[in-house]
Amino acid sequence: MTRKLVLLRHGQSQWNLDNRFTGWVDVDITEQGRQEAVKAGELMREEGLLFDVAHTSVLRRAIRTMYTALDVMDQMWLPVHKTWRLNERHYGALQGLDKAETTAKHGEAQVKIWRRSYDIPPPPLDEHDGGHPRYDRRYRRLDAAVLPATESLKTTLDRVLPYWHDAIAPQLKAGQTVLVTAHGNSLRALYKYLNHVSDKDIIDLNIPTGIPLLFELREDLSVHAHRYLGDAEAAKKAAEAVANQAKTRG
Ligand code: 3PG
Repeated sequence: MTRKLVLLRHGQSQWNLDNRFTGWVDVDITEQGRQEAVKAGELMREEGLLFDVAHTSVLRRAIRTMYTALDVMDQMWLPVHKTWRLNERHYGALQGLDKAETTAKHGEAQVKIWRRSYDIPPPPLDEHDGGHPRYDRRYRRLDAAVLPATESLKTTLDRVLPYWHDAIAPQLKAGQTVLVTAHGNSLRALYKYLNHVSDKDIIDLNIPTGIPLLFELREDLSVHAHRYLGDAEAAKKAAEAVANQAKTRG
């Protein structure tokens, strides 16, 4: 019997629409994002997915997407766990900047390194910047040393993995069906881990907003199969659009 895990990136956020680097900034989803979350719920319902538990980040775009989708599935009653470990990768000093303008200023190659390389983080946020997580009440119980001022995909994976091993993997091993609603890069990190993607190949992986990615896992949690629910061609196009977000306009 395979175990089922769904990875769901939040629906379009206001800063996805505005094309700004977001990271740990807590922006909400747009009306389109809400519709994507409804559609995600419909696809999961049609697939007959009955979850036992759901996990999400402490950022409202993921939380609202999760509840919107679960509402459509009549599964809002599920136990839900929220953790900073599923947050988006911290985008450092790039947070708030326009992606295309950043490319115009620093060049396509540099921006691709910041967005998609495995172990090169963007420049850090000044630790006195009011947007640093140390000033955010939701992280007050965490050791200041774990709060990032920037993250690469590698350091993102380093903080996602303990949660995977401690919370998610035991539930899957016990036969539970699990929903993880998170973010483009925290999910790229999990995808890399589950599918053993090399540091080099992960550069080309882009995860679209609001499309459930269903994994069927063997008993030892190795991947048996994975696929986007719904129209595969639409998922491919949406992933390409994510890759192109930093292209300069015109
Ligand atoms: C962000 O944090 O800006 C997005 O959610 C992910 O951005 P990226 O696709 O540019 O990494």
